[in-house]
Amino acid sequence: MAVVAPLLLLFAQLLTVAFAAPVSQTLEVRQTDVSALSADDVAVYKPYTWYASTAACNPTNTSAWNCGTKCSANPSFIPIASGGDGGNVQYWFVGYDPSLQTIIVSYQGTDPSKITPLITVLRFALTPLRPSLFPGISSSLQIHDGFGEAHAASADAVLAAVRTGLSKYGVNKVTLTGHSLGGAIAIIATAHLAVQIPGVTLRTITYANPRLGNQAFVDFVNARSEMTRVNNLHDIVPILPGRFVGYAHTEGEVHIVKSGAWVSCPGQDNTNAECLIGYVPTLFNGNAGNHLGPYDGITFGGC
Ligand SMILES: *[C@@H]1O[C@H](CO)[C@@H](O)[C@H](O)[C@H]1NC(C)=O
Repeated sequence: MAVVAPLLLLFAQLLTVAFAAPVSQTLEVRQTDVSALSADDVAVYKPYTWYASTAACNPTNTSAWNCGTKCSANPSFIPIASGGDGGNVQYWFVGYDPSLQTIIVSYQGTDPSKITPLITVLRFALTPLRPSLFPGISSSLQIHDGFGEAHAASADAVLAAVRTGLSKYGVNKVTLTGHSLGGAIAIIATAHLAVQIPGVTLRTITYANPRLGNQAFVDFVNARSEMTRVNNLHDIVPILPGRFVGYAHTEGEVHIVKSGAWVSCPGQDNTNAECLIGYVPTLFNGNAGNHLGPYDGITFGGC
């Protein structure tokens, strides 16, 4: 529960801003076009949920694809490269899934027992993308500085591994995934691959990620990858940082509701009662205990 204290501190900061925000920014047109996924549609996410959970394993284990159930759940996976130290640099791995016919990129999430990665969550200043990684991109596209730093820490190594995989396995598709902070990094990495590998087909499936960029940034990503972000019940992390401090979510929310159904919430920040914002309209409705899952039986956490 080490995760709760820093998040509560953040809430206190954000509430101060929330009550000072102009009313016009908080009014929303209620969106009603939600629908429950079929059992078959939910099952499609399973391998990616496992891949997101596997990023909690260290590079020795993921590079050998030896990590118990988290690895054997995707038995045909072929590792290409793994890295990170689980502290300053989140673990990551890149490989090829011959049955899904895509390169997989996955990033470690926020481990509640480790404070270092969480510190980045406590900052919410928006900053332009790094010109060294995103040459020529408009400075109007802005992201959370700490998440940008977390992405940059492994960006070159991940890009090199993705290029290796695309050429070695003769595919043109990359699927990025991650839970929590790992999801935020996966979305920034989506923009990075879109800039660095023109013409690549991108798919991004994240879990419980916070907001990480401004409207111009998420517009850019939405236009370049098929986006899905899966949220569970009353998780508080996906409502942070607030829209009132300039943040927006990528499109394609899927919200796991009380009945256990997975509900598709089209658009960005869908405010329907069945979507996450409907469940967590304010920080007081949130439950940090829902952050790790379960997501169709898979709970995030250690390796
Ligand atoms: C990670 O790999 C080591 C050996 O390389 C093994 O002993 C250990 O059980 C693996 N971890 C998991 C969670 O399977």
